[in-house]
Amino acid sequence: MKPLRVALDGPAGAGKSTVAKQAAKALGLTYVDTGAMYRAITWKALQEKINPTDEAALTELSNRVQISFKLTPAGQDVFLDGVDITEAIRTPEVTGNVSAVSAVAGVREAMVKLQQDIAAQTGVLMDGRDIGTVVLPDADVKIWLTASVEERAQRRYNELVAKGQTLDFEQLKADIERRDRFDSGREHSPMKMAEDAVVLDTTGLSIQQVIEKILEICSSADAQKL
Ligand code: CDP
Ligand code: CDP
Repeated sequence: MKPLRVALDGPAGAGKSTVAKQAAKALGLTYVDTGAMYRAITWKALQEKINPTDEAALTELSNRVQISFKLTPAGQDVFLDGVDITEAIRTPEVTGNVSAVSAVAGVREAMVKLQQDIAAQTGVLMDGRDIGTVVLPDADVKIWLTASVEERAQRRYNELVAKGQTLDFEQLKADIERRDRFDSGREHSPMKMAEDAVVLDTTGLSIQQVIEKILEICSSADAQKL
């Protein structure tokens, strides 16, 4: 039997990476955080002072660098050309520029190829924005994870405050809405729910409840493959 390929898409703060890490572990699948790849390219572009609208330079950069992941007890570390950038890719500066960088066709082509190469080698649970539509259109399971914007902003707010950041809730909510609009409005592989995706609205649900629902959806898909 071929290993399961699970596509998990949805807007910012829906809980994708949190639940994906744990669900992948329970299912014995490799977790692939595609947002971290776009963040890695954005981080490197900022380091090299490449303008986030310079398509040629961003495309060249995406084809030049090597992005890899390493499993840790806490989740996953991200490396670019061997440098650990796990923390560096979560700064407000990277978050503020990542949507522009990830809208560039050449960047998307390079990242989608990398994502498809990983999925060709192993069973995956991949999270992102275009996994069910573009990266793995024939995935065995497609889940669209969402929650109200209020709740998504509150979750992100709690997370950043716990890390010691000072921020304004309304500003954070407006930033999330702006990023969602940009991600769903771009020309190349926009954030979009696949027609055959299962919608999972996580508003009011705990992390554990969401993981259980994902495992239920995956086990019925796995049973169909037997
Ligand atoms: O965790 P958070 O929701 O903040 O975002 P992320 O998953 O780390 O993704 C960061 C950004 O990368 C998104 O806002 C998108 O602009 C872009 N992205 C994308 O274009 N396609 C993907 N498959 C994943 C992320
Ligand atoms: O990857 P994405 O942007 O979709 O979201 P995330 O970074 O996994 O989750 C954003 C925050 O929401 C994290 O701090 C999670 O712990 C929290 N969360 C939650 O409170 N309840 C859930 N059901 C899922 C996530």
